[in-house]
Amino acid sequence: MNDSVKKLWPELEWIKDEQLREKTARTWELALEKSVLKPEDLEKIQFTLLCGPDLQVTFMEHKRCVVHIAKSSGEKMNEFFGKDLPVNMDVLISGAILADVGKLLEYELDPDGRAVQGRYGKYLRHPFSGVSLAEECGVPPEVCHIIAAHAHEGDLIKRSTEAYIVHHADFMTFEPFRSRL
Ligand SMILES: [Fe+2]
Repeated sequence: MNDSVKKLWPELEWIKDEQLREKTARTWELALEKSVLKPEDLEKIQFTLLCGPDLQVTFMEHKRCVVHIAKSSGEKMNEFFGKDLPVNMDVLISGAILADVGKLLEYELDPDGRAVQGRYGKYLRHPFSGVSLAEECGVPPEVCHIIAAHAHEGDLIKRSTEAYIVHHADFMTFEPFRSRL
């Protein structure tokens, strides 16, 4: 795991399976190699292009918050429903860390150096590009499923328990920014 990914994602340490932790980190490394964005840009750019220019929350603040909410939710579900609805915490945390990794390929820099959605991202939104990056790094299908199903594309398929958690953690921290009373 390289230092910039380690610094971006302290939550990688929560993944107990060493191989899965390395594959998860490697997917972020690969995305950064292919992206116009640098690790430091992720601490500055807005987390979404859909909430207007005044939004202050950064890409990493939002992505990390989703992982924290997903972890806490998984722990509570295991505590209360563990026998009936077990949550695999490693799969959940890896999937939450990787849900938006494909976004790094969605951006282009405009002539003023601002990050905007590019041609690639219009054709292949990040659930698709994220799976592609993750599979290249050997990430297992139960985690790729979370990437594939976390956004509205996943409304059309049956989600795993872990994918439901990541989907809701993501949307509960996005929709109130976009539209609320
Ligand atoms: Fe997403």
